[in-house]
Amino acid sequence: MKKNITLSRYLVEQQRVDGLIPAQLRLLIEVVARACKRISHSVNKGALGDVLGTAGSENVQGEVQKKLDIIANEVLIEANEWGGHLAAMASEEMDSIYLVPNRYPQGEYLLMFDPLDGSSNIDVNVSIGTIFSVLKKPEGHPGVTEDDFLQAGAQQVAAGYCVYGPQTTLVLTFGDGVAMFTLDREQGSFVLTQENVRIPEDTKEFAINMSNMRHWDAPVKRYVDECLAGVEGPRNKDFNMRWIASMVADVHRILTRGGVFMYPWDKREPNKPGKLRLMYEANPMSWLVEQAGGAATNGRERILDIKPTKLHERVSVVLGSKNEVERITRYHTEA
Ligand code: AHG
Ligand code: MN
Ligand code: MN
Repeated sequence: MKKNITLSRYLVEQQRVDGLIPAQLRLLIEVVARACKRISHSVNKGALGDVLGTAGSENVQGEVQKKLDIIANEVLIEANEWGGHLAAMASEEMDSIYLVPNRYPQGEYLLMFDPLDGSSNIDVNVSIGTIFSVLKKPEGHPGVTEDDFLQAGAQQVAAGYCVYGPQTTLVLTFGDGVAMFTLDREQGSFVLTQENVRIPEDTKEFAINMSNMRHWDAPVKRYVDECLAGVEGPRNKDFNMRWIASMVADVHRILTRGGVFMYPWDKREPNKPGKLRLMYEANPMSWLVEQAGGAATNGRERILDIKPTKLHERVSVVLGSKNEVERITRYHTEA
């Protein structure tokens, strides 16, 4: 791999040499990356920047908002509204879509984000992140409505996340593989540190919140029981378990060394299909995982094929190493 390729150069080369991305999309990703750098600075300041703790409000999903949820949301909106690359945005932290104000030019793209993923980890200094998904605004009518956003994940034109951990790492796909960029704080730029990311097809590591075990459906229970049985069980190998409680950090581990991540439907809230949100959590992560050779389903069907019916729709998630995801999906369809 060539040395010191900044994100800007990588994007210019994708646009120029490979013709993979139009100029407006390149600008969009540069702007999102700049916003992530600002969020990263706030995260790093922690108590010194007065960014810890709750904001005293709730979002549309009834979750208590942390100060950083709101700060990250504002940073992303301010950075993206004036550039002329977007028609509208949607976020976990906003009830409805955010139209680019009339005083700015309108672009062709729709941006969705989970501004701060892993909110319960902010105050305890554990990795958190930002997740984003980009769609093209459907043609043929002026203005933007929520319906324009309700496209299956397979329609995404770009997706990625930035994880704020021991390093700040930006991970991207345009549908031609996955690339990772590490923030060089001295240079102030994201620098390409891995291309052609691949997830091993097999794994001995699973990620699930085990405290919900008694609420799971039989296929999930069967899969985890078999993992826990280790070498003596039907899988003939010992498994290891990890659960960071930041999807962004769990997915980053899986892209780095394989594994399977599950946040399945459970009986605590039977009317909700799952906890995670389809459009700005599951879709971008599923596309990244597929682009790295992994798989992502809701237990029955490919997540990227699900046609959303509302902005904040939830979904059951199984993603990661291909053979494990196929096994868990088979357990569901056999049941
Ligand atoms: P968010 O902070 O954006 O609401 O997302 C948190 C999500 C996800 O990142 C993580 O995998 C999961 O919630 C953790 O949930 P539990 O606390 O139920 O384990
Ligand atoms: Mn989240
Ligand atoms: Mn969030």
